[in-house]
Amino acid sequence: MCGAGTLARRRWSLPAKGGGQECPPHTIARLNLVARILETDRLILREFLPQDADALALLLSDPETMRHYPAPMDRAGVEQWIERNLRRYAEDGVGLWAMVLKATGEMIGDCGIIRQHVEGEYLYEIGYHLRRDHWGKGLATEAAVACREWGFAHLGVSRLISLIRPQNLPSQRVAERNRMTIWKEVDWRGLRHYVYAVERTGA
Ligand SMILES: CC(C)(COP(=O)(O)OP(=O)(O)OC[C@H]1O[C@@H](n2cnc3c(N)ncnc32)[C@H](O)[C@@H]1OP(=O)(O)O)[C@@H](O)C(=O)NCCC(=O)NCCS
Repeated sequence: MCGAGTLARRRWSLPAKGGGQECPPHTIARLNLVARILETDRLILREFLPQDADALALLLSDPETMRHYPAPMDRAGVEQWIERNLRRYAEDGVGLWAMVLKATGEMIGDCGIIRQHVEGEYLYEIGYHLRRDHWGKGLATEAAVACREWGFAHLGVSRLISLIRPQNLPSQRVAERNRMTIWKEVDWRGLRHYVYAVERTGA
């Protein structure tokens, strides 16, 4: 059996409670451990858990929030989306993280870093999705800026990107407030995207 302490010590520097082999990512949920990645003035970013599906559906199943995506997600899509991010944590060390409002403890969106394959190279993308009643408060920008700083501090890369549809102006404004500019345009997963990018300074 894999012990909670083994996983926690390996990834989050908590004290070890026992030996054993590494745990698969879903074990995090079973053991009720929540990996907190970073904190800003108003937000905590932590790893997703399967039980976040209800709160996440409030944004990913909302047609207005998902208007720049092929379609809003049904319940199975939301659950698969969480599973995909749990796999990313295990395989890439990063993924989209749950955005929790400190004032209320509510999970109101996601922001994080995804390893993406774009035109023949692997790049780290900052992505974000926010529940509609929290738009216009600067929360996505606050989280994206924190992810940029975290990414340059932890990933050893010289460039971070955001892939954004040309019609998605609110997302482009977040990228610009996150010091990104348009680097190039690509067809990505069959859709036209701007590749916004920011370079590490002082590298
Ligand atoms: C993209 C998305 C997260 C942007 O949300 P947003 O609320 O516009 O962005 P922020 O949370 O950073 O808020 C910024 C806005 O709040 C305003 N604001 C109000 N109070 C603020 C504060 N205290 N600090 C900073 N900005 C504040 C800013 O002026 C800005 O408004 P503007 O863009 O009209 O100038 C949101 O539109 C969304 O979830 N879209 C659907 C998912 C999506 O498309 N994701 C991106 C995929 S590429």
